[in-house]
Amino acid sequence: MKKTFYIETYGCQMNFSDTEIVASILTKENFLEAPSPEEAGLILLNTCSIRENAEQRIFNRLRHLKSLKKKNKGMMIGILGCMAERLKEQLFEEGVVDIVAGPDSYRELPQLIYSANESGKAFNILLSAEETYADINPVRIDSNGVSAFISIMRGCQNFCAYCVVPYTRGTERSRSADTILSEATTLFNDGYREITLLGQNVNSYHYNNVNFPELLSEVAKINPALRIRFATSHPKDLSDELIEVIASNDNICKSIHLPLQSGSNRILKLMKRNYTRESYMAIIDKIYSQIPGCSISTDIICGFCSENDQDHGHTLDIMRRVAYDSAFMFRYSERPGTFAAGKYKDDVPEKIKTQRLNEIIALQNKLSLEKNKKDIGKTFEVLIEGRSKKSAAQLSGRNSQNKVVVFTDDKHQPGEYVMVKITGCTSATLKGEIINSEVRS
Ligand code: 5AD
Ligand code: SF4
Repeated sequence: MKKTFYIETYGCQMNFSDTEIVASILTKENFLEAPSPEEAGLILLNTCSIRENAEQRIFNRLRHLKSLKKKNKGMMIGILGCMAERLKEQLFEEGVVDIVAGPDSYRELPQLIYSANESGKAFNILLSAEETYADINPVRIDSNGVSAFISIMRGCQNFCAYCVVPYTRGTERSRSADTILSEATTLFNDGYREITLLGQNVNSYHYNNVNFPELLSEVAKINPALRIRFATSHPKDLSDELIEVIASNDNICKSIHLPLQSGSNRILKLMKRNYTRESYMAIIDKIYSQIPGCSISTDIICGFCSENDQDHGHTLDIMRRVAYDSAFMFRYSERPGTFAAGKYKDDVPEKIKTQRLNEIIALQNKLSLEKNKKDIGKTFEVLIEGRSKKSAAQLSGRNSQNKVVVFTDDKHQPGEYVMVKITGCTSATLKGEIINSEVRS
């Protein structure tokens, strides 16, 4: 077999971070990264199960890969990630998959590859209560050289009624603070200027008496020129201590992702979210008063079991009150094995789900545009990430609030901080003019 690999990553940031771990494990085993799937001996799909259409996408991709495999003798295909965990051996039935490896079995991947090469098929979907891949140095294969993810914990045990993640990623476990700090320091020394600490619920990070706010403030001390972000927070346990740490550290970004899911107390209870619209709003008020200028983004699910027009109205109402900067918005998709799939009926017709989703999207676009308009005239520190996708003459970066800022410039490089005065916007992007050169080194 050709010892070259190509990984396609789908789903959340955690999957992108896992791909870097897989790349590291394969590189150690003398596999080389192939520039395209066509040239690879091994194609790996790192998959997502969160909604049915995420899985559908993978099945379509597999159909396409079947013909590629026919043309390339000896080519192997592997499924990693959440779908591997959820669908297990079923994935072999597609007649194209050789390897199935769940999120906690990546250390076994070389053995799985050799064994599939010899005897056709191999799989490992054991979940672990301890695996954090703490000692593995991620290979940053798709990196822009400026921003990177650091996974600080794995798994989830919140068991929200709709969510498949606790089943596909297993028990929650945190990684040692020492290994996180040394990974962040190495990244900074390698020229990276922004790291995002990742976990399904970073607020419950805990390792040997170090909690998340403590970890965050330690990471912030590495260097004032290293920006820190984190995702995701669960509203049930976002602490005052965390707000205080964000407020008091310049290099911790003023941007919080706080999934709402629904604005209706009845639906939140059915979802097993452990907060109410009132307690959610109390956190938002605290954030706005203690972290001036903080941006807030969210996730919203519409059309959850039994959701009626009034519940939907409550969601729109909270969206207006918070005035989110941005949101990821979804139609509810029933996932087999979850509490909701077992106990409730997926009874909101698809047509209504779509109608509600369209309303939510339209409102969010309006809110994002209004919020961005308020930034016109303000000056932000922007970390340059690269050339703008739309025009090569423009640079693109983000401000602390996680907003994309584009501006014309030919003097500065990715990884530099510049001050940009905002002169215009769309609902997705701020446009501006550079007003002086680098502010942090
Ligand atoms: N259907 C639709 N959206 C879902 N999410 C999680 N599970 C489902 C589901 N079954 C959304 C939630 C979560 C985000 C990552 O995906 O909003 O925060
Ligand atoms: Fe990430 Fe969840 Fe999708 Fe798995 S199911 S890839 S954890 S979003």
